[in-house]
Amino acid sequence: MTSLQVHYPGRKPLTFRRIQAADSERMARLNAAFRLFDHLIRFAPYSSKSHLKDHALRLLNNAGLLPHSRERDNRILEIAIVLHDVGVFYSQAADHGAVSAQTIRGYLSDLSPGPAERDRICSIIRSHHQYVNPSDNSEEAIALRVLDCLDAFGEVGAYRFLEVYHRRGIRPPVIFEKARQSLGKRMESILNFPFRGRDFEFVKQAYNRADQVLGQLAKEARGEGENLGALQILDWFLGINWDISQIPRILWRHDLSEFSVDYLLALNSSFQDLVSPERI
Ligand SMILES: [Fe+2]
Ligand SMILES: [Fe+2]
Repeated sequence: MTSLQVHYPGRKPLTFRRIQAADSERMARLNAAFRLFDHLIRFAPYSSKSHLKDHALRLLNNAGLLPHSRERDNRILEIAIVLHDVGVFYSQAADHGAVSAQTIRGYLSDLSPGPAERDRICSIIRSHHQYVNPSDNSEEAIALRVLDCLDAFGEVGAYRFLEVYHRRGIRPPVIFEKARQSLGKRMESILNFPFRGRDFEFVKQAYNRADQVLGQLAKEARGEGENLGALQILDWFLGINWDISQIPRILWRHDLSEFSVDYLLALNSSFQDLVSPERI
């Protein structure tokens, strides 16, 4: 049994325990895809802390939420998951799917046997932000869109929205409102997906948590309601340059509000993929 490990500078390798398999071919394929991801972003012009390998690993983790299907080619889906956001490192456009597909195309021959499969991987990736009239509605493309939306939920999702919008120059209070709107659109886009009953409860809880955090930030930025000290979260993210692997360094501080401590602890757990009964 092997598991995937991710190395972050200055930290012990993180082991993603739920991505493990006796299937050595699958692990070799995933590791090769992650090596390609590393290679492609190393000298890329832009950077995004919320689109590093842990993002793809959470999508792979959450693939267990997809209903079983004989039609879905999981080999193709997994490669698409690992590489779908390469375009973020080459473009600041909101819909970077086409840039991802274009960037990876010439490198896929090492991971995938035939040209038809390579075309499918690119097509799935190209449509991963197309929530309305997507160019690809195959099972794999839908699965990638759904899994990607799920990573916009929970504590991680709130952090990821803030990282993306702040990088694009959006500042408080607009950043919180925009993040909340975008979160709502993602939820809307997955409402018809056939989750199993209990799984959909997890999804809703994760959505509500992101909405609650962003809602509190928006309220405080407008100077409304009870002040729980949520706004300091944004300052701390800026202080650690959005590197959530640095959260343990913040947590010992005495000047954090209870709201921030709860949020940062949960975010840190999601990042480290601590064993928990929930999958999101
Ligand atoms: Fe993306
Ligand atoms: Fe993504």
